[in-house]
Amino acid sequence: MQTGHIPLGRRAYDVLVDFDCLPRLGSVLRERALAQDNVAVITSPRIGGLYYESVEAGLREAGFRHVGRWDLPDGEESKNLARFSEAVEWLARFTPDPAIRPAVVALGGGVVGDLAGFAAASFRRGIPYVQAPTTLLAAVDSSVGGKTAVNLPEGKNLVGAFYQPRLVYVDLSTLETLEVRELRSGCAEVIKYGAALDADLFRFLEQSIEDLLALDREALTRVVTRCIELKADVVRRDEREEKRVRVCLNFGHTLGHAIEKASDRRLRHGECVAVGMLAAAHISVELGLCSAQIPQRLEALIRRAGLPAAAEGLDMAHVMEFVKHDKKFVTGANRFVVLRGIGQWQEYEGVPEELVREAAGSVLV
Ligand code: NAD
Ligand code: GLY
Repeated sequence: MQTGHIPLGRRAYDVLVDFDCLPRLGSVLRERALAQDNVAVITSPRIGGLYYESVEAGLREAGFRHVGRWDLPDGEESKNLARFSEAVEWLARFTPDPAIRPAVVALGGGVVGDLAGFAAASFRRGIPYVQAPTTLLAAVDSSVGGKTAVNLPEGKNLVGAFYQPRLVYVDLSTLETLEVRELRSGCAEVIKYGAALDADLFRFLEQSIEDLLALDREALTRVVTRCIELKADVVRRDEREEKRVRVCLNFGHTLGHAIEKASDRRLRHGECVAVGMLAAAHISVELGLCSAQIPQRLEALIRRAGLPAAAEGLDMAHVMEFVKHDKKFVTGANRFVVLRGIGQWQEYEGVPEELVREAAGSVLV
């Protein structure tokens, strides 16, 4: 088992990464005294159908007497206030005794993790929770760092809290049941870490992206643990996104989010991030910050990961409208995460609108 650590003082926690380890989650919770008698597993019909039984058996074997399951229906559209209310009302029924403190296990991808984390943050003003991510995206990104949220009709992740889990418990074997499109989508975030933060990781991906997609254990462990290390360092330096450090994780996301919205969820998040990274790299070259070789390397890797290098059938005006509403745009002066080289990000304020339009045009076909 590989162990990472998120060093946040009193809110510090470990990230454990292994294969076939979900059945042992109960004993780990027991050994680390992370839960009392009541463990509330929040999952989805699909993920729970695949993995709940083994988690539940392990919890019972470890002596947890009251174990329950609540399912969030599949899909981003479930990450909303109505479902959040259902989750916390279920928690209230699950543990009516105020003297008993339940713990939550979020078993699923980023959708389950974000809503379950927010439920844990809010129920009785905060109860302990553990992230058990089951997608590549959740393993390398959303399960670590304590961002929890639900969406409003007005926008994504508009209601939430920074609330750190007590443990992140990654069973990489769960990726074997993930649809290949979801796996590729998670690869976009992995490529993001390499492109923005770590040239060695990027070079490793250039050598081994096919191994990663084939879920080769060595490649997968190396890549996932490195991404978690990188995220740990970012979160340590800027836990609440106040110091203009955590923004580096938004590389590719400004145009990516706009494309995601304009595609009306036809495209997966990672597919849009892939396209958004190429647009941001285009901007970087045009601003004279890096050589044209950088977007070429990025595009080659994105294509090998089976991700799109352009988005089809979207209206430019529509995309630009969403770009202007992105939360990373500040009044009068937009801010983009750009590259000075592979592994070297910077924030650039005031990219000319004409250049943003040109970059969007370069990835819309
Ligand atoms: P997801 O949670 O919707 O999961 C994708 C699909 O895969 C779903 O259909 C799910 O049922 C299925 N699935 C999950 N695990 C499976 C498995 N092991 N086997 C078979 N099927 C499985 O998507 P995601 O990409 O994991 O997460 C996206 C969400 O994460 C978005 O809501 C985004 O806002 C959020 N996010 C949050 C953060 C953060 O810091 N909190 C960071 C990035 C993204
Ligand atoms: N994925 C963005 C963040 O954790 O800040």
